[in-house]
Amino acid sequence: MDIKESILKVLENNRGKSISGTKLANELSVTRSAIWKNIKQLQEEGYKITAVNNRGYCLLPENDIISPQSIKPYLKGQARDFIFDIRQSVTSTNTLAKEMASKGAKEGTVIIAREQTEGRGRMGRSFYSPANTGIYFSIILRPKLTIEDSLLITTSAAVAVADAIEEVSGSKTQIKWVNDIYVSDKKVCGILTEASLNFENGGLEYAVVGIGININTDIFPDDIKTIAGSVFESKPKDIPITSILLANIINNIASSMGSLTDKRYLDEYKRRSFLIGKPIVVFKGKDKLTAKAIDIDDKARLLVEYDDGSLEALQSGEVSVRAV
Ligand code: BTN
Repeated sequence: MDIKESILKVLENNRGKSISGTKLANELSVTRSAIWKNIKQLQEEGYKITAVNNRGYCLLPENDIISPQSIKPYLKGQARDFIFDIRQSVTSTNTLAKEMASKGAKEGTVIIAREQTEGRGRMGRSFYSPANTGIYFSIILRPKLTIEDSLLITTSAAVAVADAIEEVSGSKTQIKWVNDIYVSDKKVCGILTEASLNFENGGLEYAVVGIGININTDIFPDDIKTIAGSVFESKPKDIPITSILLANIINNIASSMGSLTDKRYLDEYKRRSFLIGKPIVVFKGKDKLTAKAIDIDDKARLLVEYDDGSLEALQSGEVSVRAV
C-alpha cells in the first residue's frame, strides 16, 4: 500500500473524526510534509477531507467516493477475500473484466468505474454511465456450472442487487426478467452477464457479471428518460452510501455463488417479478408476439402463453409489458 492509500485507510477507519498530522506521520512512519502532500492529492481527486489547524485532518462523513478502503469495512464472510480494482473512467468494466479474466484474474476480482465511456447493455445496446450519479462494476466469477445453468448467475445476481437496494434505501424493488431492477416502476439497474465456455468440458471458463446502478439523478437521455430512474431522489448525506450498497451487493453475491444450483433464491426472484401475470410483448428478431407472462420455472426461464394458447419457456431474449 502506498502512502496515499495508507492515509486513506486511517482516515476511513476514523471517518468524521480529526487526526493530527503528527499522529498520522508517526503511525505511517513518514514526514508530516509527506502527509500534507498526499492529503492535498486526495482532496484534488475529490475526497472531502478538511484540514484544520491544531486539530488535523478529517474525512467528512458524507464523502462518497468509492475506494477499497471505503468498501472494506462493510464486507462480510467470503466477500472479504474479493479484490477491488477501482478506476475513474473506463470504456466498459465488462470489457476490462473479460480481458483480465482471460489472462487468469482470480474469481472475486471486482472492477469498478466511476464512469464508463462505452458502457454496454444487453442486446447490443449501450448503457448510460455518467460520472458522479451512478456506479458501474463487473465481478469475475469462475462458477462450476454448465452453459445451460448460466441463467442462474444472472438471476441470482438480480436478487442480490434487489436485496441490497432494499436494505440501503428502504424502497421496494421489482425484477423484470431477466435482469432489470425497478424501483417505483422505473429501471434503476441493469445487469449484463457474459461468459466464456471451456470447450473441453462444456463448463464455464469464467463469467463476468456487470452491474450498473443509477444512484441519484433524474437526468437521462431522451431514449431512456421515460423508463429510467434512480435508487435515491437525494443521497443520504452522512454515510458513504455508494460504498455500503456496493459492499452489500458483493456480500450477497459471494454468499449465494456456492449454492446456485439449489435454486433457493428463485422464490425471492419470483416474489419480486415485475412480469408474472402481465400481458407482454415477446421480441423475436423482427417479430413482436403478444403473450402473457405466466411464471418463472426452476431454470429461471420465463414461461409465456401466446394468444393462440401455446406455451414457451424463454431462456433469453427481450420482453416488455404491454398496455391493454
Ligand atoms: C442492460 O440494462 O441491458 C444491462 C446493463 C449492464 C450495465 C453494466 S455497467 C457495468 C458493466 N459494464 C458494462 O459495459 N455493462 C455492465
